[in-house]
Amino acid sequence: MKSKNAKRIQIFDTTLRDGEQTPGVALTPEEKIEIAHQLDKLGVDVIEAGTPITSRGEREAVKEIAKIGLNAEICGLARTIKEDIDAAIECNVDSVHIFISTSEVQMKHALGMKPEQVLARAVESVEYIKDRGLICEFSPMDATRTDLDFLKRICSAAEKAGADRINIPDTVGVMTPVTMRKLIEGLKITVKVPISVHCHNDFGMAVANSLAGVEGGASQVHVAVNGLGERAGNAALEEVVVALHLIHNLKTGINTKLIYGTSQLVRRLTGIPIQPNKAIVGENAFVHKSGIHTRGVAVVPSTFEPIKPELVGRRRRLVAGKHAGTRGIKTELEDVGIHPSNEQLKDIVRRVKELGDKGKIVTDTDLLAITRSVMGRVVKEEKIVDLVDLAVVTGINVIPTASVKLVLDGKEYVAAETGLGPVDAAIKAMQKLTSSLVNVRLKEYRLEALTGGSDAIAEVMIKVEDKDGNVMSARAAREDIVMASVEAMIDGINKVLLRRRRRK
Ligand code: KIV
Ligand code: ZN
Repeated sequence: MKSKNAKRIQIFDTTLRDGEQTPGVALTPEEKIEIAHQLDKLGVDVIEAGTPITSRGEREAVKEIAKIGLNAEICGLARTIKEDIDAAIECNVDSVHIFISTSEVQMKHALGMKPEQVLARAVESVEYIKDRGLICEFSPMDATRTDLDFLKRICSAAEKAGADRINIPDTVGVMTPVTMRKLIEGLKITVKVPISVHCHNDFGMAVANSLAGVEGGASQVHVAVNGLGERAGNAALEEVVVALHLIHNLKTGINTKLIYGTSQLVRRLTGIPIQPNKAIVGENAFVHKSGIHTRGVAVVPSTFEPIKPELVGRRRRLVAGKHAGTRGIKTELEDVGIHPSNEQLKDIVRRVKELGDKGKIVTDTDLLAITRSVMGRVVKEEKIVDLVDLAVVTGINVIPTASVKLVLDGKEYVAAETGLGPVDAAIKAMQKLTSSLVNVRLKEYRLEALTGGSDAIAEVMIKVEDKDGNVMSARAAREDIVMASVEAMIDGINKVLLRRRRRK
């Protein structure tokens, strides 16, 4: 989709600075270094490594990141205060990003300074950085709530003083795509150095506003992985980059295949979870569930998939639930080399829908367990033994007890047993019944919970042995472990009996 002459947008990553300002996040120097390595591999142009004045640990981390020889420009944030700027310069960064409030409300109540003082301080600080030979990016903080004439004056003054880039922060996220595009278009008339945008997500428009800034002429975007940042966060790197590539037909230096891995690393190290329905990196971003969708993507992925999952380092998943379609499930199974018969497929779909009706989403692992259970099981018409009834009693001060009613060749049999728990009791009841009826012994029993959560599917795998030493294996998967155990046992017994009858 990308054209050869596409314009290149610079990606300024602030995961390690604004991203670290996310409430609840505090990275160690080692963690910051690990993320910086990954951001560099990802291909960001600038890594804002931190605010060196804040602490010794922060300086250590920024210094180390500047030292390791990454391809990206390493930047340190500073207020327009000499000590701040010196702290950044001492970390041997390539660039210093300086900021000062320019909106009336912030100049008055956060700084206690008059506009002319703010302008003079901005100019002085830019000159101070340029005199020391570093790249300087200047941010008029709260630019989007700043008087437009004053904003133009201070941006021009910073440019004249030598600023290499002017960044326009939408500090409290109040812009809309229309107002953002117009603002940048207007500033482009005055400002000749590259313009950058830094959008916050207070109204959920950080990504849209960043893209609008680019439409207005910005050539750099500030982003943070997973949209981390102060309050509701910054524009998400993954969303901005993929939209620039696929919607705006523009280039960045990002290797999009590393997006998901980077997102996961940041999630793990910051401890900030990603909402499942988050674009690009959320758990559900490439999962198809309804029958219409799964059928569609199975035939032509672009029917319901605007982004190829592989492009961002992910893969498509079809989860099954009550909306599951036979075709989608069949395709998902065929993808992993499983080819159920039509009868088996019907049974698998029925089981998946039953679980869906109970509110459970059936993951890949669940689906495979159900499939193994259905495909490995004796088909209904062939069953010699079947379960009629099962009751278990368990609790505190109660001896776990199970009673099982089976039908064998049309005749019903009942047995009850106690055990250490309900599964143990049910298995013992089954054994009692079957050993007297068909002489089958449980040789091995294994239970696995396949997915997390109290509604996890449990898979029971057993081996049963008849009196001649013939061993058969059977399995069953259910969200109820007692049922799974009994079903596996019934299946095992059927297999033993069928084998014996066929031999006769
Ligand atoms: O949001 C903001 O205004 C900032 C500045 C430091 C650029 O993060
Ligand atoms: Zn910010």
